[in-house]
Formats: sequence, C-alpha cells, structure tokens
Amino acid sequence: MIIVFKPHAPKEQIDAVADEVRKLGYEPRLITGVEQSICACIGDERSQHTLETLTVFPGVEQVMRVQKRYKLVSREGRSSGTVVPVDGGKLKIGGRKFHVMAGPCSVESQEQILSTAREVKARGATILRGGAFKPRTSPYEFQGLKEEGLEMLAAAKAETGLPIITEVLAEKDVALVARYADILQIGARNAQNFALLVAAAQTGKPILLKRGLSMRIEEWLLAAEYILNEGNPHVMLCERGIRTFETYTRNTLDLSAVAIAKQETHLPVIIDPSQGCGRADLVVALCKGAVAMGADGLIVEVHPNPAEAMSDGAQQVTPEIFGGLMKAIEPLLAAVDRSL
Ligand code: E4P
Ligand code: PEP
Repeated sequence: MIIVFKPHAPKEQIDAVADEVRKLGYEPRLITGVEQSICACIGDERSQHTLETLTVFPGVEQVMRVQKRYKLVSREGRSSGTVVPVDGGKLKIGGRKFHVMAGPCSVESQEQILSTAREVKARGATILRGGAFKPRTSPYEFQGLKEEGLEMLAAAKAETGLPIITEVLAEKDVALVARYADILQIGARNAQNFALLVAAAQTGKPILLKRGLSMRIEEWLLAAEYILNEGNPHVMLCERGIRTFETYTRNTLDLSAVAIAKQETHLPVIIDPSQGCGRADLVVALCKGAVAMGADGLIVEVHPNPAEAMSDGAQQVTPEIFGGLMKAIEPLLAAVDRSL
C-alpha cells in the first residue's frame, strides 16, 4: 500500500501514521518530498489489514493499493489457461476445442427438453442447458419444475449423452442440484451470494459463474476467487450482459470483458448472448463477436417454440436458427485456430 500525506503534513502526524502501519503488520518506508511525503508499506495487502482505514488520520490525503485484490484467479505467474474437465473429463473447456452449451431457458416438460437436446446435439452442441430452478423477477411467474425438472434433464442426458448445466439458486439446494448437474450455474442474480459460492465450490463440481447485472469486472473476479479459495479450481466465467442506459437491448453484452478476463485471469470465458441482449434476432451476431474476442464457449438459449416459452421467449432461438449459428461461427473459429 502507498500512503500519500497531505502537503506539509507535520512530522508528528507522519510518525503517528508510521507507528500505526507497523502495528498493523506492515513495514513503513518513508519518502520525504519537498511539499508532500509518501509512505510505502511493505506487506501482503491481500492477507492483511488493507490500511485504507488510515485515511482517518489527519495528515493522510489518500491510501492506494499496489497489489490486485485477487490472487488465485490471476494470470500473474501462470502462463497456461485453466482447462475445466466436465463429466469426469469427457469434455474439457478452455482448450482448443470450442464448446457450445445449448437448450431452453427453462425445462418445461420431458418432451420439450428431450426434443431440444436431440436437436441441439444434432447441430453440434456439446452440453445441454436448462433451468429447473428459475430466478424470476416476479413471484407470480414460472419458477421452474425444480427436482422434477432435474429428473427430466437427467433423462435427456441418459438418451443423448450430453452433460448438463443447470442453475442452483439457493444454498439449501446445492447438494440436490449437484447430484444431477455436470456444471453448476451460478446466475447473475446470485453472483455475489458468497455463502452460495462457497457451498457450490465445496461440491468440487465445475462452476459457471455469471457476471452480476451491475457487477464490475473486479467484483466478478473476486467472486470467482471465493470458489478457488475453497480448493475448487474448475471455474468458468460467463459474461451475460450488464445493465446500462440502453433500451434497444435487455442488457448490454460487454465483449470487452472477454479480453479483460483473459488478460487478468487464467479461467475459461463463456458468453451468453441470449441473456446478453434479450433478443433472438441478435444472438447470431453476438456469438460471432464472442468467437472473435477469444471466448472459450457459448451458452445459448434454444427452444422448440420460443413463442410458447414459459420464460424468456423473446431471446430464445429455434433449433433451425441454432443450426445456422453453428455454421456461421465455424469460419471464425478457424480464423482464431479453434474448432467445434
Ligand atoms: C430466466 O427465466 C431468468 O430467470 C429470467 O431472465 C429472469 O428474468 P424475468 O423473471 O424478469 O423474466
Ligand atoms: C439463465 O441462464 O437461465 C439465467 C437466468 O441467466 P442469468 O443469471 O444470466 O440471468
């Protein structure tokens, strides 16, 4: 940490701060300037008191961090990217192969999830998505089929072999959802539910961590840090759009987050174009952008009849459009040396 003193701060004020710095476990190194002095505080900011509280001392102008607040997710000191094994290592996310997770927003019936699973598999998806526990804005809207929905997902996996990604909404449901899910999805609304992150991490299952609706990238990476800190390295970051002033789209898909997350961390990055814009007509374009930006995969909402979907119908594409999407990203994948 660096402490910047106010211009002409008296020596006794500076000494009092240095004493406090020592008391808090850092080694103070004072640099006396003509007008202003600074104090470099030697110590690990991530495992100690952060010293930001020292702005309460009268002579202190500001306290600045030197280290990033995350360490386990950090790219620093780690050249290779994390590869997340899914379903006992049958699939690996983060390598050269690009993975597309696809399926309906919500599991609505056995027939719906089975037919969608068959359709998306035939078009190249490698993982089946489907929500059984739905985080709805209104308590009156469809909340998901819960355990019955998980059983339907399991039946779809049994027939198609597609591993399952599904959302876990609450800490109390972690063990139940983990019995069915190959990847636990932590949704945007729960991205900073730290107790849920810890409980999900402790299952050892791969986790797809969505970015919260108004989350800064640092907060998202610190949420991922909670999972790694529990000893679970199998984390994927998922950018799904953030709230902005724009009204043409439901959310603003932040593709710059792919480049930043790749620069800052070693974790695979997945794009959700469906939540990302809330419009089926934009999904293909956003998927192309995601590939070009260097994402490791996509999670796309596909419904056999979006007009009758029980949640998020406007952003779900039909299996036919999904097929076109898979074809459209192929040349782009080749251009970035990846393949389906
Ligand atoms: C999907 O069903 C999500 O829960 C959904 O995006 C939440 O948004 P809504 O309940 O406002 O439709
Ligand atoms: C979803 O994928 O079903 C979902 C609710 O996504 P998000 O958490 O990104 O809103």
